[in-house]
Amino acid sequence: MNLFQTRERRPLLAPSLLAADPLGMRVHIDALNGTHQWLHLDIMDGHFVPNLSFGPMFLSALRRNYPEVPMDVHLMVASPESFLVPFATQGADVLTVHVEATPHIHRLLQSVRELGVHPGITLNPGTPVEFLYPVLHLVDLVLVMSVNPGFGGQSFLPEVVPKIEALHRFREVQGLSFLIEVDGGVSAENAECLVKSGCDVLVAGNSVFGTPQPELAANALLEAGRRGLNRG
Ligand code: DX5
Ligand code: ZN
Repeated sequence: MNLFQTRERRPLLAPSLLAADPLGMRVHIDALNGTHQWLHLDIMDGHFVPNLSFGPMFLSALRRNYPEVPMDVHLMVASPESFLVPFATQGADVLTVHVEATPHIHRLLQSVRELGVHPGITLNPGTPVEFLYPVLHLVDLVLVMSVNPGFGGQSFLPEVVPKIEALHRFREVQGLSFLIEVDGGVSAENAECLVKSGCDVLVAGNSVFGTPQPELAANALLEAGRRGLNRG
């Protein structure tokens, strides 16, 4: 799956299933009517973040039912080492780990690559972006958290925008090709600014699934994002 040769198609939309109806997941995903490019799956363990969500069995069911859709797995767990194999074997295309969750981020990213999955790295709003620089040559995706992780439906934190700009510059200067993804409070109101700052992948939960017509909301978000491509 060459989901990382897609920068020319950006922005991509990764709706977050945390905001979908747990009793009507299939109905909610199908209501997107193919407007999305990826699906974003938040894995929470009640330790790294104060909430619980999905496990590998849920990913496996998604993979069986949507074999063509790239599965973007965001691990918000303590000891992420223990979760790489379960999610890699159940169909993750991207496995994103928090830099705060392990003292051995370099080794962890190598392990993800060895499992045949695209490695992603992410950071909380309070973590300096410079902490990522030593390992950015190892990743295919950088996820910038724009809310404190653990819950959907929070307000976007504008102070993370300079991190997106810094990553975009770093990528150009170093000749790297990782995608930049933003997660938390993303909506049609801020998508243009995010893409203008360098974001390639928009994660959106409530601004898509919290609306009566997810397909319309997804299209509006992508359209707003595309306006940001004219960087000026
Ligand atoms: C938050 C999660 C997000 C969340 C985003 O910890 O990582 O993916 O689902 O939800 P919204 O878009 O509603 O802020
Ligand atoms: Zn997420």
